[in-house]
Amino acid sequence: MGIRRVAIVASLTAVAAWLAQPSVRRAAKSMRTSSAPGAGAYELVAGWFLGGYYRDIARDCAAALTGVAEPSILEIGPGPGHLAERLLDLLPGAHWMGIDIDPAMLGAAERRLARAGTRDRATLVEGDVAQMPFPDASFDLVVSSLSAHHWPDTTAGFAEIRRVLRPDGHALVYDLPPRWGHIETGSAGLDAANAIFGDFERTRARGVGPLTIVWRADLRP
Ligand SMILES: C[S@@+](CC[C@H](N)C(=O)[O-])C[C@H]1O[C@@H](n2cnc3c(N)ncnc32)[C@H](O)[C@@H]1O
Repeated sequence: MGIRRVAIVASLTAVAAWLAQPSVRRAAKSMRTSSAPGAGAYELVAGWFLGGYYRDIARDCAAALTGVAEPSILEIGPGPGHLAERLLDLLPGAHWMGIDIDPAMLGAAERRLARAGTRDRATLVEGDVAQMPFPDASFDLVVSSLSAHHWPDTTAGFAEIRRVLRPDGHALVYDLPPRWGHIETGSAGLDAANAIFGDFERTRARGVGPLTIVWRADLRP
């Protein structure tokens, strides 16, 4: 075998060994579910750049819950809990439940809510939006931010959202434009909501000039 071939085989073996490490596999999995190599990295970057965005969503949710004294809120894919922290602060009568597929994200959210003093009004559940362990018609509001384009089965996710919503409740789902999400993960993102909720109101939540970065979908059962 020539020296060049030996070098190529050695390099490929080194890359394969590196990829086989548990930490590298964990980071790759996390990139698929949250666009970040881990919960800590996501928490840091989202905390730096998205503070105003979470504040606006929390206000939007509070407005949607006007007149509901002790609202029951479900957040899907809360990540490290930036939005949950603001929601529980803004709505002192609310109970918040968060379901996330990544236990590391739930751990970060739990620590954040404990620091904020609102852990007793929160329930954290590890699970997939496509198969949620909640009874039918149990929430006044379902909210989700930047998570839908990570769901492998978006149609099943939206069907589950509809199932757990109370008849007079509604869901606010914020996500990337479906085409962007599709490029990143192959998911249908918000486009899949039509099959379950029919026509729904879609408005721009964040953008730069003519470019929409985050859409807001208002979904009613
Ligand atoms: C990009 S992060 C967004 C976190 C947070 N909502 C925010 O706006 O900063 C996506 C989150 O969705 C979660 N997620 C991805 N797929 C999921 C699924 N099928 N079911 C539940 N959660 C999921 C990820 O673990 C992650 O916490």
